[in-house]
This record gives sequence, structure tokens and C-alpha cells, in this order.
Amino acid sequence: MHEKCNLAIFASGTGSNFINIYNNIINGKINANLNILISNNPNCQAVNFAKNNGINYSIINKFRCKSIMDEILDVLNNNNIHLVLLAGYMKKIPEVVVNKYSRKIINIHPALLPKFGGAGFYGMNIHEAVIKNREKETGITIHFVDNDYDTGEIIYQEKIKVKNEDSPDTLAKRVLELEHKIYPEIVRQFCDKYKGG
Ligand code: GRF
Repeated sequence: MHEKCNLAIFASGTGSNFINIYNNIINGKINANLNILISNNPNCQAVNFAKNNGINYSIINKFRCKSIMDEILDVLNNNNIHLVLLAGYMKKIPEVVVNKYSRKIINIHPALLPKFGGAGFYGMNIHEAVIKNREKETGITIHFVDNDYDTGEIIYQEKIKVKNEDSPDTLAKRVLELEHKIYPEIVRQFCDKYKGG
């Protein structure tokens, strides 16, 4: 038997992807330990969910920590983390952390990168821009995190059609549904490949 992959999830908001991954671990679809949720926002729904479900969590922000970089490194190290998942985390991961966990930090983005990526492209801004640009398709991108916004190596993309009648809201809903289908599957593959060490 190999050691299970230890996950840390970073989230700042609603946390639907975080909750979805958690549920996939609980029901045995993903063979991993969810060791910790890390958030900059103590009042977000992701943190509430962690509190209500006995999931270990850590709040890392400039009000609580002298050095965010040191704190993140300590928490990842102390929890023996093998793979980091970003799920709606609104802060940049410090460069030292990215370099230490090279190809071990994954993000999900609700568009087909490199389109609609980078600073300012988050949340509804993305879907509004997709509609405004009259794109025929949009989708999701799962990628490794590097030292810029949304530029890391792409692991997987899946497309959906933009319908004539779509609004940013209807598009956001369908893209999020797709995220909930695909992110656990990609995470499952990573965890299955993990052989310890
Ligand atoms: C998702 O659309 C994800 O792609 C993006 O942030 C959003 C987070 O949603 N990075 P949630 O907090 O998981 O509901």
C-alpha cells in the first residue's frame, strides 16, 4: 500500500469547488487526505464549511501573519502536503512557495486560457467579457501555478458552447457545473499517480 496523497486546498469565497472535492474524498472517489483548508478570508463560506465539518483550516493574511510566505511554507510543511489545489483563492501564491512546490500547485480557471486570464479576469468579469466578445465557446482550464496570473502550464481544458440566449449568469452556472464535474476527476488522477515521497 502506498501512502495517500495529502492535499491542501486554498479558497477565499463560496468554496463550492472545495466542498465538492471534500465530498469526493468522503465518498471514496478521490483517494487522498484533505489535510487543510487555507484561506485569507476568515468570514468566507469555505471557512464556515470547514468549521462545521471538522476540517482543519488556517487563516493566513496580513492581519494575522508577519510573513505570509513563511506562514504558508510552515503550514504546508507541518501538514506534510504533497499537492496544493487552488479553488477560488484570490491572492497570489508567493514566489518562494511556487518554486518549492513546482508542478504541485494546481488551479482551476473558468475560461479557456490564455483567453480571459490574468489580473482582473475573475468571477463574473470573465463571463461578462466572454458574452461581450461574442465568443462561440468558453469552458474551464486546469493548470499548474507559476509566478504569474493564469499563465502556468495547462493540464486540461474542456469547452462548452456559448448559446445565443446566454447571459453572464447562465454561463457562469454552466461553467461552474463543468468545474464540479472535471476538477475532482483531474485531482483523482493526480492522487492515483501519487506514490509517496
Ligand atoms: C471558480 O469559478 C474557479 O474556477 C475560480 O474561482 C471560482 C471559485 O468558485 N478560480 P467556488 O468558490 O469554488 O464556488
